[in-house]
Amino acid sequence: MLAKTPPMGWNSWNTFGQEISDTLIRETADKMVEEGLLEAGYEYLVIDDCWALMERDGQGRLVPDPAKFPFGMKALADYVHQKGLKFGMYSCDGTMTCAGYPASLEHEFIDAQTFADWGVDFLKYDNCYKPRSIESRLLYRRMAMALRATGRDILFSACNWGTDQVETWIRSTGAHMWRSTGDIQDNWASIKSIVTSQDGREPYSGPGCYNDIDMLVVGMYGKGNVGLGGCSDVQYKSHFSLWCMMNSPLMIGCDVRSMSDATREILMNREMIAVNQDPEGRQSYMIPLGGVGDDGKYADSRVYVKPLADGGYAIGFFNLSGEAQRQSLALWDLGLPTAAGYGLKLYDLWAHKEAGIAREHITHTLDAYDCRVYRASLVRL
Ligand code: GLA
Repeated sequence: MLAKTPPMGWNSWNTFGQEISDTLIRETADKMVEEGLLEAGYEYLVIDDCWALMERDGQGRLVPDPAKFPFGMKALADYVHQKGLKFGMYSCDGTMTCAGYPASLEHEFIDAQTFADWGVDFLKYDNCYKPRSIESRLLYRRMAMALRATGRDILFSACNWGTDQVETWIRSTGAHMWRSTGDIQDNWASIKSIVTSQDGREPYSGPGCYNDIDMLVVGMYGKGNVGLGGCSDVQYKSHFSLWCMMNSPLMIGCDVRSMSDATREILMNREMIAVNQDPEGRQSYMIPLGGVGDDGKYADSRVYVKPLADGGYAIGFFNLSGEAQRQSLALWDLGLPTAAGYGLKLYDLWAHKEAGIAREHITHTLDAYDCRVYRASLVRL
């Protein structure tokens, strides 16, 4: 079974857009191993849009652009596989990809076979230039079937940006992850609007098919294709923690050849990754603390609670606002009345140390944009 836990890897789009090449992918593969990203769980290396020539070949197959990929995709996939990584590619269910390259509509079975022949292990499948007359549900079913027909295990990453009530039908198509938002940008406003748009989606994510809230912008610092503004390290830490709590696939989007120390520390926080990769695969529920936020619509101060396979919980406190906030969570709101005689033993996943036993409340002040995430286990008082 694929995607038992949220898929992890790297994708070319956020930083590189159309500036992709054989050299970039080989260097990225080398770095993913050298830096310990593969060992931390980031196993899929995915080439996004803009890799193909504009014309198919005489047999109707997609052709990698020889100016970008002079040795073809099979040789590149072999290189990536030799490094111990898995290899991913991108296509789209319409007449063209989002960036205007040839896409797979009416070519689904031949394209799936081409990807399988090259050694592709992951296919991201977009939704641009889809004829209105055909439902995207049918086209995702079709590509899922075409991938199955190849006999190769290919993780199917559906990307229709949360439209067409996708959460209600995507798991049944055979997809392993599904984009539930528009495209992320490297700034806090984008991260916050993605997070707050997900309230209510919690039931639609779990082993075999995860709710994908888009690729990470951690470590981009405003550089690259979606690097519109950049974030501070505190914001990147909270962004990563939210993606872990919300069960999202963790697809790195920065240039891993030049990561800062802070970027390494965030992306390779094993204790946070363990929360994301917890085998029970439950998405957290959200408790708003205090009233509505600065736009009058949602709480800026919120707690996410994720039940874990060891019988405990991950509890993440987030301050989405630009002002320090005092937060107090009543354990009652997690289902724990004082009379039950239990407390929560806390371990801080960013400070990497024990944080005492909470009896009735957890109270603290969080700086602007900051977060605090605990692993909590029930203990008898
Ligand atoms: C869409 C997707 C992005 C990226 C681009 C490529 O916008 O949502 O993630 O794949 O297409 O053109």
